[in-house]
Amino acid sequence: MPPQTSSSKLRRSPAPHSLVPSLLDWFAIAARNLPWRRTLDPYAIWVSEIMLQQTQVKTVIPYWERWMRELPDVAALVAAPEQRVLKLWEGLGYYTRVRNLQKAAQQIVAQHAGHFPRGFDAVLALPGVGRYTAGAITSIAFNAPNPILDGNVIRVLTRLFGIRGNPREKTTNAQLWLLATRLVQAAADSQPSTLNPQLPAPCSALNQSLMELGATLCTPQNAQCPQCPVQSLCAAHREGRVGELPNLSPRASATSREFHTFVMERGGKFLVTQRPAGGVNARLWEFPNLEVTGLRLAPETSAKQLLQVTIRCEPLCEVKHTITRYRITQRVFRVRWPSAEASVPAHTRWLCMPELHALPFTSAHRRILCRVAAGI
Ligand code: ADE
Repeated sequence: MPPQTSSSKLRRSPAPHSLVPSLLDWFAIAARNLPWRRTLDPYAIWVSEIMLQQTQVKTVIPYWERWMRELPDVAALVAAPEQRVLKLWEGLGYYTRVRNLQKAAQQIVAQHAGHFPRGFDAVLALPGVGRYTAGAITSIAFNAPNPILDGNVIRVLTRLFGIRGNPREKTTNAQLWLLATRLVQAAADSQPSTLNPQLPAPCSALNQSLMELGATLCTPQNAQCPQCPVQSLCAAHREGRVGELPNLSPRASATSREFHTFVMERGGKFLVTQRPAGGVNARLWEFPNLEVTGLRLAPETSAKQLLQVTIRCEPLCEVKHTITRYRITQRVFRVRWPSAEASVPAHTRWLCMPELHALPFTSAHRRILCRVAAGI
C-alpha cells in the first residue's frame, strides 16, 4: 500500500459543519440538568467553571448552590472576609482557585465598575482564567464563538478526527484548538435547533455538547460508541482506535509522603494552627503536624521536635489522601498536654468544637476533626 498522504488523512476526517447539527440535536435531548445551565449570569457561570476546573460535577453542585445563595454577585464576593470565602470552598481543594476568584472580583470592581466583562480579552485577563475558561464563560453566557479545549474535549476531538499526536505537544495542541474554533464557528452559522426551544444559543450549546459528550459517552475507558450522536462520522471508531486515543504521555508516578499529626486536648479545647500566607493551603487551619522524612521517627520524637515537650502519643487513626502527585498519609496521635508551663508553637490557638467547625480546615484535617468530634 502506498504511504498515506496528509490529504488522504484529511479526507477521512469529518468536516466541522457536518458534525454541528448532530451535536446540537443530541445536546438538546441528552444534556444533564445542571444548576449552572439554568442561568446566563456570567458571574454564576464563571464560579461554576472555576469550581469545575479540578473537581467533578457531582461534587461541585452543592458547593455552587451554597456559594450562589451566600455570595450571589461580584459585590458580595468582594465584600466577603477571606475566612468566609475559604469556608465556602472547604473540601474542594486547590485553594489558589478561590483566592483568584476574590482577586478577580476586585479587578472587576476596579476596572469594569463591578460589571462582569463581556469581551474575551478582558475575561482572559482575570486572575485564574485561562483560554479554556474564558472560552467557556463567553460562549455560555454571551454566545460568543470562542472555542474550548479541556481534557474531555481533547478526547472527543482526537477520536472524532483521528488525531494521533500527543495533545500536550505544541503542534497537536494548536491543531486541536483550530478544530475547536472551526466547530464553534460552524455552530454560530447554523440554524437554531427545533428539538428543544429551551436549548441554549448555538455557540454555548456546541461547546457544552463537546464537554458533555466527553463526560458522559466518549469516556477514557468503555466509551459508549453505540449511543454517540456522531459515531458514523468518527475516525477512531471507523478505524477501531477509540481505546488508543488520545495519545497522552504517561503521568509521573505519585510520590509518597508521611506526616505525624497531633490532636491535643486541654479542658475540652483542641490545639490548632493556621497555615502561613503564601504557601500551599495558605491561611487554612489544621492540627499541629510534621512531615516525617527519611527514617521512620517515633511520634514522641516528632512531637518533641514540633512542640519542645516530651509527651506520650497514643495512635488515633490514619488518614490517606492524594494531592496533585503526592500520596499523603497522616498518622494521627492523641496526646495529653503535659503541663500549664509548656509553650505552644506560634500561630496556634486552643479552640472548642463549635469554634473549630466554623473555621476553614484543609480536607485531610477536616476528616481528622470529624473523627475526633465523633469520638473515634
Ligand atoms: N466541565 C467544565 N465546565 C462544565 C460545564 N459548564 N458543565 C459541565 N461540566 C463542565
